[in-house]
Amino acid sequence: MGKYSKILELGKRRGFFWPSFEIYGGVSGYYDFGPLGARLKRNIEDLWREFFVERHSEFIVEIETPVIMPQPVFEASGHLEHFTDYMVQCRKCGRIYRADHLIEQHVETSGLEGKSAEELTSIIREAGIKCPECGGELGNVRKFNLLMQTNIGPYKGSIGYGRPEAAQGMFINFKRVYDQMGGRLPLGIAQIGRVMRNEISPRQGLIRVREFTIMELELFYDPKNPSCPLLSEVENRELKIVVASDVEKGRWNPVKFTVREAVERGVIKTEWNAYFMAIAVEFLQALGVPSEMQVFIDKPPAELAHYSAQTFDQLVKLEDFGWVEVSGHAYRTDYDLYAHIKKSGVDLRAFRKFDKPIVKERVKVRLNMSVAGRIFKGKAKMLREELSKMDPEDVMRALESNGWIEVLGEKLDRNLVIVEKTVEKVHGERFIPHVAEPSFGAERLFYVTLEYAYREVDGRIVLSLPKRIAPIKVAVFPLVARDGLPEKAREVYSLLKRSGLEVVYDDTAFIGRLYARADEIGIPIAITIDYDTLKDDTVTLRDRDTWRQVRTPIHKLPSLLREYIEGRRGFEELGTPFSKQG
Ligand code: GLY
Repeated sequence: MGKYSKILELGKRRGFFWPSFEIYGGVSGYYDFGPLGARLKRNIEDLWREFFVERHSEFIVEIETPVIMPQPVFEASGHLEHFTDYMVQCRKCGRIYRADHLIEQHVETSGLEGKSAEELTSIIREAGIKCPECGGELGNVRKFNLLMQTNIGPYKGSIGYGRPEAAQGMFINFKRVYDQMGGRLPLGIAQIGRVMRNEISPRQGLIRVREFTIMELELFYDPKNPSCPLLSEVENRELKIVVASDVEKGRWNPVKFTVREAVERGVIKTEWNAYFMAIAVEFLQALGVPSEMQVFIDKPPAELAHYSAQTFDQLVKLEDFGWVEVSGHAYRTDYDLYAHIKKSGVDLRAFRKFDKPIVKERVKVRLNMSVAGRIFKGKAKMLREELSKMDPEDVMRALESNGWIEVLGEKLDRNLVIVEKTVEKVHGERFIPHVAEPSFGAERLFYVTLEYAYREVDGRIVLSLPKRIAPIKVAVFPLVARDGLPEKAREVYSLLKRSGLEVVYDDTAFIGRLYARADEIGIPIAITIDYDTLKDDTVTLRDRDTWRQVRTPIHKLPSLLREYIEGRRGFEELGTPFSKQG
């Protein structure tokens, strides 16, 4: 059985995840999260929040916007036109495949993302690729838009789409949040929420789903002041990158750069993307993925999304699926804000204050009505209006060189045109910010976390989930379910619950079986209440990963366990060594 199947089996049995709509035969690309899975996913989301939002709370804020968005949003963003994949249908059995995935399964190739439908059709014909299910002839490759369409309300003309990314919610709200945050840049707007992508034929379980949770941050900055003040904090960290020229040639050649080198050599175009890539490596490590199992791919120009000037995909090595993308780091420039300004007509620009106000001379021209009225009578009003529409600088230049300016066929000389010069102080200028975007899919991270935590020890499953994100932190067991031990154990359970820990109580099996169950769902610490507890109020703490045990007084548990879960204290520092093995 492959790793994915084993984890799915555990997921179904113990309540992490399973395919949705099972009682109706299932629909591929949809997954449900069970009691433990929903908690684990929420803990991953909270950890993301901590790394990407809370750590930077002086300039990064989180918002929440609707999942269904009206058509103009995606007309402007370019998703209606560009958010497409290529599909191909079997002429015999009617099955549908994603064309590039089908080709990749049959021929050694790279760079398919930039190819047209015709080019993909030719590759399929030349390689003699047939329907993998029935061996039938495949039709021509066609484009398919991945937006999920619906109607907003009962009105036919009111088309809406499930958002494929949370980002558009941040772009259309940029100006409002920018003003609320005091009109300062850099400004990060983050969002965690559901998105929908009508994938053509998702076949990779939880790795490719049609509805998922995106964790996305749009970092808005002034392109004239593009430096990231936090870069120095991460500049010596290493990033492994396969550069675009290698990707284009199909060469898997990860090169190590420090963050600073990657920026200085122009490998990463923006400091902000570089900074968040370093944070992304640290975040994945916190989920249990060592840095050597992570790599960034610099996407070649032909493979870039329509909005991106540069994108790095962060990949993680998985046993059954190979290298899988877990996050994207895009330099979106001013693409999206510009598009929404153009489409909506609303000014979403930021304001750049000059160090010192600039003094600007302005020229104003107007018709001298007392003279013009006498000469042109009724036409004077029209001349006045027409003159007011002209560029005063042009008018002044014409008067200086010719002595007159022609307006509506009349030659107006200096007696007819009053020129006034004023001096104005200009304090700043408006501009469209640029955007660096780190974007993560929670479902993939959820699976990645499970895969990296999954171990088999002596034929038993141990889920070594990072303590911080384990859905349950502590289990409390009585050594036997009699002689007052369950009552004492429940007291300890209540104490820990009141202290805010995610804790469970169980007395429905022998202690060895209870430990095994706890290991299987990744509970970091099991506490056993035994006969000595009744005498001296101490308990045994058992470490999930080493099965070592220590003895600790009950009253110290809340603070010690919290410190242990937060990584401020090692297991051996939780008490005195205890030799009995569970
Ligand atoms: N916003 C990133 C993406 O759509 O993939």
